[in-house]
Amino acid sequence: MNEAKGSLTRREFVGGMSTALAGALVVSGSDGPFPRGFLWGAATAAHQVEGNNLNSDEWVLEHLKPSIFAEPSGDACDHYHRYADDIALLAGLGFNTYRFSIEWARIEPEQGFFSRAELEHYRRMLAACHEHKLTPMVTFSHFTAPRWFAALGGWENPASVDLFARYAERAARHLGDQIGLATTFNEPNLPRLLGWLSFDISGGAAALLQQAARAVGSDRFGFFLFADAEKALANMIPAHERALAAMKSGPGSFPVGVSLAMADEQAAGPDSGRDEKRRSVYGAWLEAAGKSDFLGVQVYTRARVGKGKDLGPESGVELTQMGYEFWPEALEAVLRYSATQVRVPMYVTENGIGTEDDTRRIEYIRRAIAGVQNCLKAGIDVRGYIHWSLMDNYEWVFGYRPKFGLVSVDRQTQQRTLKPSARFLGDIARRNGS
Ligand code: BGC
Repeated sequence: MNEAKGSLTRREFVGGMSTALAGALVVSGSDGPFPRGFLWGAATAAHQVEGNNLNSDEWVLEHLKPSIFAEPSGDACDHYHRYADDIALLAGLGFNTYRFSIEWARIEPEQGFFSRAELEHYRRMLAACHEHKLTPMVTFSHFTAPRWFAALGGWENPASVDLFARYAERAARHLGDQIGLATTFNEPNLPRLLGWLSFDISGGAAALLQQAARAVGSDRFGFFLFADAEKALANMIPAHERALAAMKSGPGSFPVGVSLAMADEQAAGPDSGRDEKRRSVYGAWLEAAGKSDFLGVQVYTRARVGKGKDLGPESGVELTQMGYEFWPEALEAVLRYSATQVRVPMYVTENGIGTEDDTRRIEYIRRAIAGVQNCLKAGIDVRGYIHWSLMDNYEWVFGYRPKFGLVSVDRQTQQRTLKPSARFLGDIARRNGS
Protein backbone atom coordinates (compact mmCIF):
# COMPACT_ATOMS: atom_id res chain seq x y z
CA MET A 1 0.00 0.00 0.00
CA ASN A 2 1.15 3.55 -0.66
CA GLU A 3 1.12 4.51 2.97
CA ALA A 4 4.72 5.68 3.05
CA LYS A 5 6.08 9.20 3.24
CA GLY A 6 3.62 12.04 3.03
CA SER A 7 0.45 9.96 3.22
CA LEU A 8 -1.82 9.01 6.08
CA THR A 9 -2.11 5.50 7.40
CA ARG A 10 -5.63 4.11 7.33
CA ARG A 11 -5.84 4.43 11.12
CA GLU A 12 -4.76 8.10 11.10
CA PHE A 13 -7.13 8.70 8.23
CA VAL A 14 -10.24 7.31 9.89
CA GLY A 15 -9.08 8.53 13.31
CA GLY A 16 -8.92 12.06 11.94
CA MET A 17 -12.62 12.08 11.20
CA SER A 18 -15.33 13.04 13.65
CA THR A 19 -16.85 10.14 15.57
CA ALA A 20 -20.09 10.36 13.61
CA LEU A 21 -18.21 10.04 10.35
CA ALA A 22 -16.02 7.21 11.51
CA GLY A 23 -19.27 5.49 12.52
CA ALA A 24 -20.54 5.87 9.00
CA LEU A 25 -17.41 4.18 7.74
CA VAL A 26 -17.69 1.26 10.10
CA VAL A 27 -21.23 0.41 9.09
CA SER A 28 -20.28 0.32 5.43
CA GLY A 29 -20.05 -3.14 3.93
CA SER A 30 -17.20 -5.05 5.46
CA ASP A 31 -17.81 -8.60 4.28
CA GLY A 32 -17.22 -8.18 0.58
CA PRO A 33 -13.98 -8.43 -1.31
CA PHE A 34 -13.16 -4.73 -1.04
CA PRO A 35 -11.37 -3.29 2.00
CA ARG A 36 -13.39 -2.49 5.09
CA GLY A 37 -14.56 1.12 4.98
CA PHE A 38 -14.32 1.39 1.19
CA LEU A 39 -16.45 4.32 0.04
CA TRP A 40 -19.17 3.60 -2.51
CA GLY A 41 -21.01 6.59 -3.79
CA ALA A 42 -22.49 8.70 -6.52
CA ALA A 43 -21.72 12.32 -7.31
CA THR A 44 -23.43 15.51 -8.36
CA ALA A 45 -22.34 19.14 -8.72
CA ALA A 46 -24.40 22.07 -7.47
CA HIS A 47 -24.93 23.91 -10.74
CA GLN A 48 -25.81 20.73 -12.61
CA VAL A 49 -28.58 19.63 -10.25
CA GLU A 50 -29.73 22.38 -7.87
CA GLY A 51 -31.50 24.71 -10.29
CA ASN A 52 -31.75 28.51 -10.42
CA ASN A 53 -28.13 29.26 -9.67
CA LEU A 54 -28.96 32.87 -10.44
CA ASN A 55 -25.86 34.59 -9.11
CA SER A 56 -23.38 32.37 -10.92
CA ASP A 57 -21.13 33.19 -13.85
CA GLU A 58 -22.53 30.24 -15.78
CA TRP A 59 -26.11 31.52 -15.45
CA VAL A 60 -25.07 34.72 -17.22
CA LEU A 61 -23.47 32.76 -20.07
CA GLU A 62 -26.44 30.43 -20.49
CA HIS A 63 -28.79 33.37 -20.94
CA LEU A 64 -26.88 35.31 -23.57
CA LYS A 65 -28.31 35.32 -27.06
CA PRO A 66 -26.85 33.66 -28.99
CA SER A 67 -25.13 31.31 -26.56
CA ILE A 68 -22.91 28.29 -27.15
CA PHE A 69 -24.82 26.57 -24.34
CA ALA A 70 -27.36 24.22 -25.86
CA GLU A 71 -29.99 25.39 -23.35
CA PRO A 72 -30.09 27.11 -19.96
CA SER A 73 -29.96 25.04 -16.77
CA GLY A 74 -33.23 26.45 -15.40
CA ASP A 75 -34.66 24.39 -12.56
CA ALA A 76 -32.09 21.63 -13.25
CA CYS A 77 -33.14 18.68 -11.02
CA ASP A 78 -34.47 20.99 -8.32
CA HIS A 79 -32.05 19.23 -6.00
CA TYR A 80 -31.87 22.44 -3.98
CA HIS A 81 -35.34 21.59 -2.68
CA ARG A 82 -35.36 17.84 -3.21
CA TYR A 83 -32.00 16.94 -1.67
CA ALA A 84 -33.54 15.10 1.27
CA ASP A 85 -35.39 12.63 -0.98
CA ASP A 86 -32.39 12.28 -3.29
CA ILE A 87 -30.06 11.52 -0.39
CA ALA A 88 -32.53 8.99 1.03
CA LEU A 89 -32.76 7.37 -2.41
CA LEU A 90 -28.98 7.07 -2.67
CA ALA A 91 -28.70 5.53 0.78
CA GLY A 92 -31.60 3.16 0.12
CA LEU A 93 -29.81 1.78 -2.91
CA GLY A 94 -26.91 0.61 -0.72
CA PHE A 95 -24.35 3.39 -1.08
CA ASN A 96 -22.40 4.82 1.85
CA THR A 97 -21.11 8.07 0.30
CA TYR A 98 -22.52 11.17 -1.38
CA ARG A 99 -20.20 13.50 -3.27
CA PHE A 100 -21.72 16.92 -3.94
CA SER A 101 -20.55 20.49 -4.26
CA ILE A 102 -21.40 23.62 -2.36
CA GLU A 103 -22.07 26.65 -4.52
CA TRP A 104 -19.86 29.70 -4.01
CA ALA A 105 -22.34 31.86 -5.95
CA ARG A 106 -25.02 31.13 -3.35
CA ILE A 107 -22.77 31.38 -0.32
CA GLU A 108 -21.18 34.70 -1.39
CA PRO A 109 -23.70 36.18 -3.85
CA GLU A 110 -22.13 39.66 -3.53
CA GLN A 111 -18.46 40.15 -2.92
CA GLY A 112 -17.89 40.10 0.84
CA PHE A 113 -21.49 39.17 1.75
CA PHE A 114 -21.69 35.64 3.08
CA SER A 115 -25.17 34.22 3.33
CA ARG A 116 -25.68 32.41 6.60
CA ALA A 117 -28.97 31.07 5.27
CA GLU A 118 -27.26 29.39 2.32
CA LEU A 119 -24.54 27.96 4.55
CA GLU A 120 -27.32 26.58 6.72
CA HIS A 121 -28.83 24.99 3.63
CA TYR A 122 -25.61 23.03 3.10
CA ARG A 123 -25.51 22.15 6.80
CA ARG A 124 -28.94 20.59 6.37
CA MET A 125 -27.65 18.60 3.38
CA LEU A 126 -24.75 17.35 5.47
CA ALA A 127 -27.15 16.45 8.29
CA ALA A 128 -29.29 14.49 5.82
CA CYS A 129 -26.21 12.53 4.76
CA HIS A 130 -25.38 11.64 8.36
CA GLU A 131 -28.97 10.71 9.08
CA HIS A 132 -28.69 8.16 6.27
CA LYS A 133 -25.19 7.01 7.21
CA LEU A 134 -23.64 8.50 4.11
CA THR A 135 -20.16 9.97 4.31
CA PRO A 136 -20.36 13.40 2.66
CA MET A 137 -17.54 14.28 0.30
CA VAL A 138 -17.79 17.99 -0.39
CA THR A 139 -16.39 19.80 -3.42
CA PHE A 140 -15.78 23.47 -2.67
CA SER A 141 -15.64 24.52 -6.32
CA HIS A 142 -17.12 22.58 -9.22
CA PHE A 143 -16.55 24.90 -12.21
CA THR A 144 -18.99 27.70 -11.27
CA ALA A 145 -18.26 30.91 -9.36
CA PRO A 146 -20.20 34.06 -8.47
CA ARG A 147 -20.86 36.46 -11.35
CA TRP A 148 -19.07 39.28 -9.48
CA PHE A 149 -15.98 37.03 -9.45
CA ALA A 150 -16.27 36.58 -13.22
CA ALA A 151 -16.57 40.36 -13.63
CA LEU A 152 -13.19 40.69 -11.88
CA GLY A 153 -11.64 38.32 -14.43
CA GLY A 154 -12.27 35.00 -12.66
CA TRP A 155 -9.30 32.68 -12.28
CA GLU A 156 -7.15 34.81 -14.54
CA ASN A 157 -7.04 37.53 -11.88
CA PRO A 158 -4.34 37.02 -9.20
CA ALA A 159 -6.86 38.36 -6.64
CA SER A 160 -8.76 35.09 -7.16
CA VAL A 161 -6.36 33.39 -4.73
CA ASP A 162 -7.38 35.54 -1.76
CA LEU A 163 -11.02 35.58 -2.78
CA PHE A 164 -11.26 31.79 -2.99
CA ALA A 165 -9.29 31.30 0.23
CA ARG A 166 -11.68 33.62 2.07
CA TYR A 167 -14.74 31.79 0.75
CA ALA A 168 -13.23 28.41 1.62
CA GLU A 169 -12.38 29.59 5.12
CA ARG A 170 -15.94 30.86 5.72
CA ALA A 171 -17.55 27.72 4.36
CA ALA A 172 -15.20 25.38 6.22
CA ARG A 173 -15.75 27.28 9.46
CA HIS A 174 -19.52 26.86 9.11
CA LEU A 175 -19.61 23.31 7.79
CA GLY A 176 -16.33 21.66 8.74
CA ASP A 177 -17.53 19.67 11.73
CA GLN A 178 -19.96 17.79 9.45
CA ILE A 179 -17.74 17.17 6.43
CA GLY A 180 -16.41 13.66 5.78
CA LEU A 181 -13.88 14.47 3.08
CA ALA A 182 -13.41 17.50 0.87
CA THR A 183 -11.83 18.55 -2.36
CA THR A 184 -10.91 22.14 -3.07
CA PHE A 185 -11.39 22.03 -6.83
CA ASN A 186 -13.05 19.72 -9.29
CA GLU A 187 -10.78 19.14 -12.29
CA PRO A 188 -8.68 22.32 -12.08
CA ASN A 189 -6.44 20.77 -14.75
CA LEU A 190 -9.20 21.07 -17.37
CA PRO A 191 -8.06 24.32 -19.04
CA ARG A 192 -4.79 22.70 -20.06
CA LEU A 193 -6.47 19.41 -20.93
CA LEU A 194 -8.93 21.09 -23.29
CA GLY A 195 -6.03 22.27 -25.42
CA TRP A 196 -5.16 18.65 -26.23
CA LEU A 197 -8.63 17.41 -27.15
CA SER A 198 -9.44 16.44 -30.71
CA PHE A 199 -12.62 18.52 -30.51
CA ASP A 200 -13.23 22.06 -29.28
CA ILE A 201 -15.84 22.91 -26.68
CA SER A 202 -14.82 26.55 -26.51
CA GLY A 203 -15.41 27.61 -30.12
CA GLY A 204 -17.03 31.04 -29.91
CA ALA A 205 -16.07 31.38 -26.25
CA ALA A 206 -14.10 34.61 -26.69
CA ALA A 207 -17.07 36.41 -28.25
CA LEU A 208 -19.37 34.97 -25.59
CA LEU A 209 -17.13 36.23 -22.80
CA GLN A 210 -17.09 39.74 -24.31
CA GLN A 211 -20.85 39.69 -24.54
CA ALA A 212 -21.04 38.51 -20.90
CA ALA A 213 -18.69 41.28 -19.78
CA ARG A 214 -21.02 43.84 -21.33
CA ALA A 215 -24.01 42.17 -19.68
CA VAL A 216 -22.47 42.52 -16.21
CA GLY A 217 -21.09 46.00 -16.86
CA SER A 218 -17.43 45.03 -16.75
CA ASP A 219 -14.54 45.13 -19.20
CA ARG A 220 -13.89 41.41 -18.60
CA PHE A 221 -15.63 38.14 -17.77
CA GLY A 222 -13.57 35.16 -16.68
CA PHE A 223 -15.11 31.69 -16.67
CA PHE A 224 -13.21 28.60 -15.55
CA LEU A 225 -13.98 26.37 -18.55
CA PHE A 226 -12.81 28.99 -21.03
CA ALA A 227 -9.95 30.41 -18.96
CA ASP A 228 -6.44 31.06 -20.20
CA ALA A 229 -4.79 27.83 -19.03
CA GLU A 230 -1.50 29.34 -17.90
CA LYS A 231 -3.02 32.21 -15.91
CA ALA A 232 -5.59 29.90 -14.32
CA LEU A 233 -2.93 27.41 -13.29
CA ALA A 234 -0.76 30.11 -11.74
CA ASN A 235 -3.67 31.22 -9.53
CA MET A 236 -5.45 27.94 -8.83
CA ILE A 237 -2.45 26.12 -7.38
CA PRO A 238 -1.93 28.69 -4.59
CA ALA A 239 -5.72 28.97 -4.21
CA HIS A 240 -5.84 25.21 -3.61
CA GLU A 241 -3.04 25.41 -1.04
CA ARG A 242 -4.61 28.32 0.81
CA ALA A 243 -8.06 26.70 0.83
CA LEU A 244 -6.59 23.42 2.06
CA ALA A 245 -4.85 25.21 4.92
CA ALA A 246 -8.12 26.96 5.82
CA MET A 247 -10.03 23.68 5.86
CA LYS A 248 -7.33 22.09 7.97
CA SER A 249 -7.58 24.78 10.62
CA GLY A 250 -10.95 23.41 11.77
CA PRO A 251 -13.58 22.91 12.97
CA GLY A 252 -13.63 19.22 12.17
CA SER A 253 -10.74 17.20 10.93
CA PHE A 254 -11.28 15.75 7.52
CA PRO A 255 -9.03 14.70 4.65
CA VAL A 256 -8.71 17.30 1.90
CA GLY A 257 -7.70 16.51 -1.65
CA VAL A 258 -8.11 17.64 -5.21
CA SER A 259 -9.76 15.72 -8.05
CA LEU A 260 -8.36 15.69 -11.57
CA ALA A 261 -9.77 15.02 -15.03
CA MET A 262 -7.72 12.09 -16.30
CA ALA A 263 -7.73 9.69 -19.22
CA ASP A 264 -5.79 6.56 -20.03
CA GLU A 265 -3.16 8.29 -22.16
CA GLN A 266 -1.94 5.97 -24.87
CA ALA A 267 0.97 6.90 -27.13
CA ALA A 268 -0.11 6.84 -30.78
CA GLY A 269 2.65 6.85 -33.36
CA PRO A 270 6.40 7.35 -33.00
CA ASP A 271 6.18 11.11 -32.32
CA SER A 272 3.39 10.90 -29.75
CA GLY A 273 3.30 13.75 -27.26
CA ARG A 274 1.98 11.48 -24.53
CA ASP A 275 4.66 12.22 -21.96
CA GLU A 276 4.55 15.93 -22.71
CA LYS A 277 0.78 15.87 -22.31
CA ARG A 278 1.04 14.07 -18.97
CA ARG A 279 3.60 16.59 -17.73
CA SER A 280 1.55 19.55 -18.87
CA VAL A 281 -1.94 18.41 -17.89
CA TYR A 282 -1.22 16.47 -14.71
CA GLY A 283 2.27 17.45 -13.49
CA ALA A 284 1.64 20.47 -11.27
CA TRP A 285 -1.66 19.11 -10.00
CA LEU A 286 -0.31 15.67 -9.14
CA GLU A 287 2.37 17.46 -7.18
CA ALA A 288 -0.31 19.49 -5.37
CA ALA A 289 -2.33 16.33 -4.71
CA GLY A 290 0.79 14.64 -3.38
CA LYS A 291 1.00 17.38 -0.75
CA SER A 292 -2.70 16.99 0.10
CA ASP A 293 -4.42 14.09 1.86
CA PHE A 294 -5.63 12.31 -1.26
CA LEU A 295 -5.96 12.40 -5.02
CA GLY A 296 -9.40 12.21 -6.62
CA VAL A 297 -9.25 10.46 -9.96
CA GLN A 298 -11.97 11.22 -12.57
CA VAL A 299 -11.91 9.00 -15.61
CA TYR A 300 -14.26 8.47 -18.54
CA THR A 301 -12.22 7.09 -21.42
CA ARG A 302 -8.81 6.63 -22.99
CA ALA A 303 -6.96 9.18 -25.15
CA ARG A 304 -4.73 8.25 -28.08
CA VAL A 305 -2.15 10.97 -28.01
CA GLY A 306 -0.52 12.04 -31.24
CA LYS A 307 1.91 14.89 -31.79
CA GLY A 308 0.66 17.79 -29.67
CA LYS A 309 -2.99 16.65 -29.93
CA ASP A 310 -5.27 13.74 -29.16
CA LEU A 311 -6.20 11.77 -32.26
CA GLY A 312 -9.81 11.18 -31.31
CA PRO A 313 -11.66 7.88 -31.42
CA GLU A 314 -10.29 4.93 -33.34
CA SER A 315 -12.61 3.75 -36.07
CA GLY A 316 -14.68 0.75 -35.09
CA VAL A 317 -14.66 1.50 -31.36
CA GLU A 318 -18.07 2.00 -29.77
CA LEU A 319 -18.78 5.64 -28.90
CA THR A 320 -20.72 7.07 -25.98
CA GLN A 321 -23.17 9.97 -26.20
CA MET A 322 -20.29 12.38 -25.57
CA GLY A 323 -18.40 10.98 -28.54
CA TYR A 324 -15.88 9.29 -26.23
CA GLU A 325 -14.70 5.76 -26.83
CA PHE A 326 -16.46 3.20 -24.62
CA TRP A 327 -13.36 2.29 -22.61
CA PRO A 328 -14.09 1.20 -19.03
CA GLU A 329 -10.57 -0.23 -18.69
CA ALA A 330 -9.27 3.36 -18.65
CA LEU A 331 -9.97 3.57 -14.94
CA GLU A 332 -7.56 0.79 -14.00
CA ALA A 333 -4.87 2.23 -16.27
CA VAL A 334 -5.20 5.70 -14.74
CA LEU A 335 -5.12 4.36 -11.18
CA ARG A 336 -1.99 2.38 -11.97
CA TYR A 337 -0.33 5.40 -13.57
CA SER A 338 -1.34 7.74 -10.74
CA ALA A 339 0.00 5.30 -8.15
CA THR A 340 3.43 5.77 -9.70
CA GLN A 341 3.09 9.56 -9.38
CA VAL A 342 1.65 10.17 -5.90
CA ARG A 343 2.09 8.48 -2.56
CA VAL A 344 -1.23 9.56 -1.07
CA PRO A 345 -4.42 7.46 -1.07
CA MET A 346 -6.67 7.70 -4.12
CA TYR A 347 -10.41 7.84 -4.54
CA VAL A 348 -12.25 7.42 -7.79
CA THR A 349 -14.29 10.62 -7.47
CA GLU A 350 -15.92 10.33 -10.92
CA ASN A 351 -16.34 7.57 -13.45
CA GLY A 352 -19.29 7.04 -15.72
CA ILE A 353 -20.79 7.08 -19.17
CA GLY A 354 -23.23 9.25 -21.07
CA THR A 355 -25.69 6.88 -22.70
CA GLU A 356 -29.39 6.28 -23.30
CA ASP A 357 -28.68 2.55 -23.16
CA ASP A 358 -28.52 1.56 -19.52
CA THR A 359 -27.29 -1.94 -20.36
CA ARG A 360 -24.09 -0.29 -21.63
CA ARG A 361 -23.82 1.64 -18.34
CA ILE A 362 -24.06 -1.63 -16.42
CA GLU A 363 -21.37 -3.20 -18.58
CA TYR A 364 -19.19 -0.12 -18.16
CA ILE A 365 -19.56 -0.18 -14.38
CA ARG A 366 -18.89 -3.91 -14.19
CA ARG A 367 -15.64 -3.61 -16.11
CA ALA A 368 -14.51 -0.41 -14.39
CA ILE A 369 -14.99 -1.94 -10.96
CA ALA A 370 -13.16 -5.09 -11.99
CA GLY A 371 -10.29 -2.72 -12.80
CA VAL A 372 -10.44 -1.16 -9.34
CA GLN A 373 -10.35 -4.62 -7.85
CA ASN A 374 -7.25 -5.48 -9.90
CA CYS A 375 -5.58 -2.35 -8.51
CA LEU A 376 -6.44 -3.32 -4.95
CA LYS A 377 -4.99 -6.79 -5.53
CA ALA A 378 -1.84 -5.11 -6.82
CA GLY A 379 -1.58 -3.22 -3.50
CA ILE A 380 -2.64 0.17 -4.85
CA ASP A 381 -4.28 2.33 -2.21
CA VAL A 382 -7.73 3.04 -3.65
CA ARG A 383 -10.29 3.91 -1.03
CA GLY A 384 -13.49 4.59 -2.87
CA TYR A 385 -15.50 4.44 -6.06
CA ILE A 386 -17.90 7.31 -6.69
CA HIS A 387 -19.97 7.15 -9.83
CA TRP A 388 -20.88 10.10 -12.03
CA SER A 389 -23.71 10.70 -11.66
CA LEU A 390 -26.50 10.07 -9.20
CA MET A 391 -29.00 11.41 -11.72
CA ASP A 392 -29.33 12.73 -15.26
CA ASN A 393 -28.42 16.38 -15.08
CA TYR A 394 -27.22 19.53 -16.81
CA GLU A 395 -24.13 18.69 -18.83
CA TRP A 396 -22.74 22.23 -19.24
CA VAL A 397 -22.55 23.39 -22.88
CA PHE A 398 -24.33 20.21 -24.00
CA GLY A 399 -27.44 20.90 -21.94
CA TYR A 400 -29.66 18.03 -20.79
CA ARG A 401 -29.09 15.65 -23.72
CA PRO A 402 -26.24 13.48 -22.34
CA LYS A 403 -27.51 10.99 -19.77
CA PHE A 404 -24.95 10.12 -17.10
CA GLY A 405 -27.40 9.26 -14.32
CA LEU A 406 -28.13 6.09 -12.40
CA VAL A 407 -31.52 7.71 -11.93
CA SER A 408 -33.50 9.46 -14.64
CA VAL A 409 -35.31 12.73 -14.01
CA ASP A 410 -38.52 13.79 -15.74
CA ARG A 411 -37.82 17.32 -16.94
CA GLN A 412 -41.43 18.44 -16.42
CA THR A 413 -42.45 16.74 -13.18
CA GLN A 414 -38.98 16.22 -11.64
CA GLN A 415 -39.99 12.65 -10.93
CA ARG A 416 -37.03 10.36 -10.28
CA THR A 417 -36.98 6.86 -11.80
CA LEU A 418 -34.34 4.29 -10.95
CA LYS A 419 -32.48 2.79 -13.87
CA PRO A 420 -31.37 -0.85 -13.57
CA SER A 421 -27.77 0.41 -13.22
CA ALA A 422 -28.73 2.14 -9.96
CA ARG A 423 -29.67 -1.20 -8.43
CA PHE A 424 -26.72 -2.94 -10.05
CA LEU A 425 -24.15 -0.56 -8.55
CA GLY A 426 -26.11 -0.19 -5.30
CA ASP A 427 -26.00 -3.96 -4.82
CA ILE A 428 -22.25 -3.99 -5.40
CA ALA A 429 -21.93 -1.23 -2.81
CA ARG A 430 -24.06 -3.14 -0.33
CA ARG A 431 -21.94 -6.25 -0.78
CA ASN A 432 -18.78 -4.13 -0.64
CA GLY A 433 -17.57 -5.41 -3.97
CA SER A 434 -18.60 -7.34 -7.01
C1 BGC B 1 -17.27 16.90 -14.61
C2 BGC B 1 -18.77 16.81 -14.53
C3 BGC B 1 -19.34 16.36 -15.85
C4 BGC B 1 -18.76 15.00 -16.17
C5 BGC B 1 -19.33 14.34 -17.41
C6 BGC B 1 -16.62 15.81 -15.42
O1 BGC B 1 -15.67 16.41 -16.24
O2 BGC B 1 -16.71 16.98 -13.33
O3 BGC B 1 -19.26 18.04 -14.11
O4 BGC B 1 -20.72 16.34 -15.87
O5 BGC B 1 -17.38 15.10 -16.30
O6 BGC B 1 -18.93 14.97 -18.58
